[in-house]
Amino acid sequence: MRALSALARVRRRALHTAAAPRTLWSFLDGAAGVYGYAAAHSEAEPPALQRIRRAALAEAPAEAQKMISPLQGAFMASLVRAQRPSAVLELGCYVGYSALWLAHGLDRAAGARLWTCERDPETAQKAQHNIASAGLAGAVTVLAQPAASVLESWDPATKLDLIFIDANKSAYQQYYDLVMDLGILHDRGQIVVDNVLFHGKVHTAQPPAGAAGKQSRIAAKLRAFNEHVASDPRTSQVILPVFDGLMLIQKARP
Ligand SMILES: C[S@@+](CC[C@H](N)C(=O)[O-])C[C@H]1O[C@@H](n2cnc3c(N)ncnc32)[C@H](O)[C@@H]1O
Repeated sequence: MRALSALARVRRRALHTAAAPRTLWSFLDGAAGVYGYAAAHSEAEPPALQRIRRAALAEAPAEAQKMISPLQGAFMASLVRAQRPSAVLELGCYVGYSALWLAHGLDRAAGARLWTCERDPETAQKAQHNIASAGLAGAVTVLAQPAASVLESWDPATKLDLIFIDANKSAYQQYYDLVMDLGILHDRGQIVVDNVLFHGKVHTAQPPAGAAGKQSRIAAKLRAFNEHVASDPRTSQVILPVFDGLMLIQKARP
């Protein structure tokens, strides 16, 4: 019991520190110092991104927990560098923090581009400002549009090499189906989906007692989404139990 309340204290404290991951359901994060150690020995957060993350945390501490952590950002940039995508789409921009990490890994000299969408116009404007202040406006376009309409109006001639899904969790399945049905993902492309283990509430058959109603509903949606992808023969996928649960999806080989 004492150990659990100590853990709760560590989690609370970690949520308010600059480098904390946005969700701390994993005992490895924060509690054992694994997150801090990994972050300290990973690519450093570029100063412009640090400024933007800190400003977001100062302005709206609870809202800003939506952002990926610096460690996840370094992972995303590394994924982009390894994959060398020409066209990347992010669904769910918030103030542009993860978009900037993705853009950080892009081969901009080769003309690689990123589009990111945010349905809230005011937030989209902040993202636009942040991206410009980081000097990346030439490579990143912020679309102040709902994710579904971005996908539905996407020009299928511009195949996407990487799609990062991090918008409203309740519509993940719709976004995945649109991507697959519209044929806008490059054959060797990848979809990366965030939060698929959502606070550790998705893998349990029953929602934990006392779970907040909205959180349980989101967890149920994500459970259905994970099952949907797992049973789709068009794709292969892996769920990594890191951060808040990250799913990597590729088209299956014919
Ligand atoms: C988890 S946050 C994104 C965080 C961001 N990817 C990061 O790590 O810095 C999700 C964002 O998606 C936006 N959003 C929610 N529903 C959306 C929709 N249907 N279309 C586009 N954006 C949406 C929310 O307003 C919110 O800013």
